Amino acid sequence: MLALRNIRKSGDGVLKGKATPVSRFNAQLTTLLDDMAETMDAAEGAGLAAPQVGISKRIIIFRHEDSVVELINPEFILKQGESIDLEGCLSCPGIYGEVARPQFVRVKGCDREGRPLELEGEGFLARVLEHEIDHLNGVLFIDKALRLLTAEELQKLREEG
Ligand code: NI
Repeated sequence: MLALRNIRKSGDGVLKGKATPVSRFNAQLTTLLDDMAETMDAAEGAGLAAPQVGISKRIIIFRHEDSVVELINPEFILKQGESIDLEGCLSCPGIYGEVARPQFVRVKGCDREGRPLELEGEGFLARVLEHEIDHLNGVLFIDKALRLLTAEELQKLREEG
């Protein structure tokens, strides 16, 4: 039985904390991951971190092509290059800003069964990975944005769809 979780918004203390590693790969984790995927899709997000649903654990998910990728206890192995682009966050509705992110990342972690896995991301995927892992360290994109869009720019963005 899937359930939508409440997405915590900027200002909620759980988004400011450092999340703790997952040590038990059990049914509770499975339920949380399934609920997170449901919640991310319902909100049309590109990714979601557990603190965003009020759980201060090192868990991220993101959409890649047609599937949802889950990564538990993610750690960067490599970050390369830099790319500045616009981004937003489900925890900061209506706010968009320009953020510098690596152009390429390699990340290790494990899957929902606790099996080790490694993955790479370039461009948008590298951006999503760093954005979501930042959430595990209490960092929101608005904390590191080079600049936030103005009301006029937001209006223009909406008009352009
Ligand atoms: Ni976010």
